[in-house]
Amino acid sequence: MKTQAIRIHAHGGPEVLSLDEVEIPAPGPGEALVRNTAIGVNYADIYEREGDHGGPHSAKPFPVTMGHMAVGVVETPGADGPGAGTRVGYIGGNSYAGHTLVPAARLFPLPDALSDEVAGGYLLRGLTAEYLVRRLYPLGPGKVAVVHAAAGGMGLLLGQWGKALGARMIGTVGSPEKAALAKTFGYESTIDYSAGDFAPQVMELTGGVGAEVIYDGIGKAAFRKSLDCIRPRGMVISYGTASGNVGEFDLQLLHSKSIIVTRPTLRSWIADPEEARAAAVATFAALTSDDIDTPIGAVLPLAEAAEAHRRLEGRETTAPIVLKP
Ligand SMILES: NC(=O)c1ccc[n+]([C@@H]2O[C@H](COP(=O)([O-])OP(=O)(O)OC[C@H]3O[C@@H](n4cnc5c(N)ncnc54)[C@H](OP(=O)(O)O)[C@@H]3O)[C@@H](O)[C@H]2O)c1
Repeated sequence: MKTQAIRIHAHGGPEVLSLDEVEIPAPGPGEALVRNTAIGVNYADIYEREGDHGGPHSAKPFPVTMGHMAVGVVETPGADGPGAGTRVGYIGGNSYAGHTLVPAARLFPLPDALSDEVAGGYLLRGLTAEYLVRRLYPLGPGKVAVVHAAAGGMGLLLGQWGKALGARMIGTVGSPEKAALAKTFGYESTIDYSAGDFAPQVMELTGGVGAEVIYDGIGKAAFRKSLDCIRPRGMVISYGTASGNVGEFDLQLLHSKSIIVTRPTLRSWIADPEEARAAAVATFAALTSDDIDTPIGAVLPLAEAAEAHRRLEGRETTAPIVLKP
């Protein structure tokens, strides 16, 4: 069958995204055919388009069908997977398309309480927030956490989930408007880094001790300063690089405070099927709870993927953008 897909034939800016008609082969063993209804636009898509990120988003052979997740309806089920007509979400490639082949065992059936659009905007971010606040560095009462880019898609979720777990959440943001927004999404305090360094302000807000954990989705522009405001034996989680890769750094920078640094990817945290199922249960419970609001910033036609990328990398967005085939 044929479907429309956003593909790249070269790396580059948003202009390399091309709306193509592509042939989808019949599902192979264990594969399901999903008709996508809401496709999440995530920062990983920008790394994939630019092609210089390394790590799990490193270059695939051209042409590459873009995307890292979507939700939709199973049209052709795969063995041991959800049946035809089931609403599902998945984390996986080739999602910027009308239809996508997905390993049936990796499909997450969606609860009725989660709309297609909200699941499209928050499934990947929700599973990421789940491992960040529950498993990699479990937040709870008495913990002080800093989240960079607190008014972004990940930031709005982390602030609310961390607060719901009882932690004290401090958010850093790039404008006064984003500071005001973050305060309504779980953050007790916000720091506008466009007006000055965040590290001294984190130290002041924590009585001179520093935060126990820093969730850093910014990378290059924030990583080194985060080491200045983490407390002894604290953890700096470099989970994203919106401003560029961190690059090489001297391990000795960690020595004086026994700092723990990690560079995680969602893939490793949902690779085990049992862990993935448990993560999805916790994520769906959080996303449908009264503690967490899940606004959607914009819903655009799939053909306008380039506009979605311009807004996200141009720092214009707060809540997630969803594409509709
Ligand atoms: N490792 C994982 O498992 C995993 C999974 C999902 C997402 N992530 C990461 O989570 C982060 C957030 O993802 P998201 O999709 O929700 O994006 P987002 O936070 O909505 O957007 C990125 C934000 O980063 C900030 N930023 C700072 N410097 C920037 C620069 N030079 N260029 C662009 N943005 C800059 C901007 O906020 P301000 O204007 O406030 O600075 C911008 O809005 C990304 O780094 C992504 O890679 C990681």
